[in-house]
Amino acid sequence: MLNLIRNVFAFVLLVVSLSVNSQESRPLSEGALHCLTCHGNQTYTLQNPWTGQEEKRLMNPYFIIDTTHYRTGVHRTFSCTDCHATDYETYPHAAELKLEPLSTCLDCHGGDDTYAKYQFERIDEEFQKSVHFVKSGESFTCSKCHNQHYYKPTARNSSTVSEIVSYNNAMCLSCHNNLARFQLVSDQQNPVLAQVHAWLPNQELHFRNVRCIECHTQVTDTLMVSHNILSKEHAVQKCVECHSSNSMLKASLYKYQNLQARSGKGALGAVLQNESYLIGANQVPALKLLSILIFVAALAGVLLHSVFRFTKK
Ligand code: HEC
Ligand code: HEC
Ligand code: HEC
Ligand code: HEC
Ligand code: HEC
Ligand code: HEC
Ligand code: HEC
Repeated sequence: MLNLIRNVFAFVLLVVSLSVNSQESRPLSEGALHCLTCHGNQTYTLQNPWTGQEEKRLMNPYFIIDTTHYRTGVHRTFSCTDCHATDYETYPHAAELKLEPLSTCLDCHGGDDTYAKYQFERIDEEFQKSVHFVKSGESFTCSKCHNQHYYKPTARNSSTVSEIVSYNNAMCLSCHNNLARFQLVSDQQNPVLAQVHAWLPNQELHFRNVRCIECHTQVTDTLMVSHNILSKEHAVQKCVECHSSNSMLKASLYKYQNLQARSGKGALGAVLQNESYLIGANQVPALKLLSILIFVAALAGVLLHSVFRFTKK
């Protein structure tokens, strides 16, 4: 009987994992594959009508689409021409195509109930209050952080803190560590992050375990990810905000883990599996009780021992 249950369980797991996998690695559409013969590689081949020769050229690195990331993004089922003009099907591309306006997230997702859980409109409101929008205006689009080719919601779907952190911080670093992209929206130099955060010990460790937005946004309980990046004067600098038993991380980064924990492993399992153990913040009631019991038992042992030694004398 037990074996039967176990087999049924294993089968269900297999089916679930297969269906998850097939969704992850669905083949790319024909339309995307056509463009990717050139845009998926560092070099492309063209037939030069002037010389009648076939020629190999270098692709502009900024115009290379990473096929692996495209496959895992939310828009992986799209043909390139679902967003870009169909005129791109011919090469050389017509010069005026460069000026083609492209759809924003809100153009497609705004006011659509299918995506209500993502709260696109609320995110837009929050974003418009952020330093980025206030200082740079319309030139700072959602796509400056969310590459439409690759975006995948990690905070919502990932089961590890480290993946969420590295994915999120890479979005910020794509400008804050890259002068060319920074200057797409500003004439300033980008401040050197290591110097700006010199007050923070173990900087690298921190940046691997917390997101930039932890310190740079106001936490909202109703949004999955806060989008209001505050000016630097309002950034979190106090260590106890995180290194204490009511760490602010519980309401931001760790709330995603909590969601997972509640649906599956239970609180203790989640803490034991959690790679980011935080001094001061993680306290497991069961472990605490156990350590008190051990302490009391040890004390009793010592007492008993001394009592015997005393009486045997
Ligand atoms: C024969 C190779 C080739 C094919 C096929 C190709 N492209 Fe391109 N594409 C290029 C090259 C090279 C550039 C760089 C600019 C140029 O030479 O026009 C480019 C530039 C672009 C740009 C950037 C334009 C700009 O300056 O901002 C976009 C967008 C683009 N291609 C989309 C597509 C789409 C969509 C398809 C498929 C429908 C496609 N391309 C098919 C070679 C190709
Ligand atoms: C969901 C919509 C969407 C799809 C699908 C899409 N693109 Fe794009 N693409 C964009 C947007 C938006 C930009 C402009 C990015 C920006 O302004 O920062 C862009 C920019 C580009 C550029 C210019 C370089 C850059 O990153 O700015 C190239 C080249 C390009 N796309 C090629 C492709 C190819 C090839 C495909 C198919 C494999 C494709 N795109 C599919 C929305 C899309
Ligand atoms: C050209 C229209 C278009 C644009 C522009 C666009 N999207 Fe999408 N997006 C879609 C469609 C259609 C789907 C559904 C794809 C599917 O089901 O395979 C989707 C799927 C998604 C999903 C997954 C929804 C779900 O629950 O399955 C997210 C998240 C998302 N988009 C975010 C964004 C963000 C963020 C932007 C801007 C950076 C953006 N999209 C720009 C049309 C668009
Ligand atoms: C300064 C960078 C930045 C800008 C600008 C930005 N976002 Fe985001 N956004 C993020 C980060 C970081 C996340 C968290 C990514 C993750 O782990 O899913 C996120 C998450 C999201 C999500 C997923 C939330 C969920 O419930 O899973 C949506 C939808 C979204 N953003 C839409 C937008 C829209 C629409 C705009 C423009 C109005 C925008 N974002 C502008 C950084 C940005
Ligand atoms: C532990 C909290 C914390 C984390 C994590 C953090 N920051 Fe900061 N950041 C601050 C504080 C506090 C300041 C203000 C420092 C000052 O004014 O002396 C600041 C300043 C800044 C500034 C302003 C620079 C200037 O002087 O103009 C930028 C830009 C910045 N941070 C970006 C980031 C990015 C990008 C990340 C993620 C890689 C990040 N921060 C992670 C707390 C943090
Ligand atoms: C498109 C490039 C770009 C991206 C992506 C980006 N930033 Fe910025 N950021 C800027 C620029 C440029 C400034 C300087 C102010 C301005 O002109 O918008 C800035 C300023 C800041 C400041 C300082 C505000 C002040 O008071 O001076 C902070 C903090 C900050 N960014 C945090 C972040 C965080 C966190 C992320 C990721 C969620 C991020 N940025 C993503 C370009 C970017
Ligand atoms: C935004 C939340 C946050 C803030 C603010 C913060 N920390 Fe941390 N800190 C963390 C996290 C998360 C870790 C990683 C714990 C781990 O996995 O080792 C960490 C790790 C550390 C470590 C390394 C511990 C070890 O295991 O080696 C030290 C030391 C530390 N922090 C000191 C500080 C000091 C001092 C400040 C104030 C100047 C500070 N932190 C501010 C979240 C924070």
